[in-house]
Amino acid sequence: MKKRILGKSGLEVSALGLGCMGLSFGYGPATDQQEAIRLLRAAYEAGVTFFDTAEAYGPYVNEELLGEALSPFRREVVIATKFGFKEGKPDLGMDSSSANIRAVAEASLRRLKTDYIDLFYQHRVDPNVPIEEVADTVKELMKEGKIKHWGLSEAGAATIRRANAVQPVAALQSEYSLWFREPEQEVLPVLEELGIGFVPFSPLGKGFLTGAINENTQFDKTDFRNIVPRFSEDNRKANQSFVDLLKTIAVQKHATPAQIALAWLLAQKPWIVPIPGTTRLARLQENIGAASLELTPEELAAIETGAAQISVQGARYPEHLQKRVGK
Ligand SMILES: NC(=O)c1ccc[n+]([C@@H]2O[C@H](COP(=O)([O-])OP(=O)(O)OC[C@H]3O[C@@H](n4cnc5c(N)ncnc54)[C@H](OP(=O)(O)O)[C@@H]3O)[C@@H](O)[C@H]2O)c1
Repeated sequence: MKKRILGKSGLEVSALGLGCMGLSFGYGPATDQQEAIRLLRAAYEAGVTFFDTAEAYGPYVNEELLGEALSPFRREVVIATKFGFKEGKPDLGMDSSSANIRAVAEASLRRLKTDYIDLFYQHRVDPNVPIEEVADTVKELMKEGKIKHWGLSEAGAATIRRANAVQPVAALQSEYSLWFREPEQEVLPVLEELGIGFVPFSPLGKGFLTGAINENTQFDKTDFRNIVPRFSEDNRKANQSFVDLLKTIAVQKHATPAQIALAWLLAQKPWIVPIPGTTRLARLQENIGAASLELTPEELAAIETGAAQISVQGARYPEHLQKRVGK
């Protein structure tokens, strides 16, 4: 697979990474351990060298899974993980105190069966800890060789600038896709100016943009999408126009809507590296196909025109989760 470099950090990764959250967390029951290991190793065999996890996924078990699956080729891959929730549990709130960051780094290293973390993100901005203090702690961990690079997730432009001034940030990981384009307003220009890479999460719109979800879809009772306004039955029905748009382009390109959604993201900037998540081998192969799909200027313009005529229905997060997003 083609490679990309995240901003000016020098961190080289496959043009598409693999979001590993759904293997243990968020979208219903965890995948069987052996099946998950097979999927992660198949991703590596297919050229994926960028794997995204977090202390919070499970919590803990997703990192353990990656530790097990990736250890045979640890030095060939880039592992990104995240700190910043009390006990790794988002429901307990944020904790980016120096003591917690250090404790998470040690625990993550153990679970990942490694002696360094390639990319350590703050999962959410902690309103109680100035970002400069967070950057200082990260800087120390870098000096100790435990972390190679650091990043932020869902941080706003001002926080990104302040963090980067203390310790250069390699990447921002935030939601970005055809149906959530807010980063284009303020964040992408700042990343470009500062030379910071961008890792869009939920690049397939949490599965919606693939066309596999409609108003009749029943999610497992533990599936996070049950509480997402954008995924209410009515909104799923109304938002099908995004899928219709992607399908039109997909038919012309002999591709799939998922591939068009990912190729569109890749076409936005050369320092963007989406991390689609899947638990299924066939979908992994399908998604990887997007890395070699080039959209022409005419096709990109057609997507732009089509998308401008659609207004997305429903918030991407319920209110209590949206409040966690940093400024
Ligand atoms: N920093 C943060 O706060 C944050 C938040 C959310 C996510 N993330 C990271 O970003 C990664 C990706 O985001 P995400 O998992 O939320 O959303 P996503 O990648 O947009 O979509 C994942 C969903 O799409 C389905 N899917 C994947 N490929 C498909 C295909 N080709 N056709 C049909 N369905 C397909 C998957 O189901 P199957 O498993 O059944 O294929 C899964 O339900 C996560 O794994 C995680 O690492 C980070």
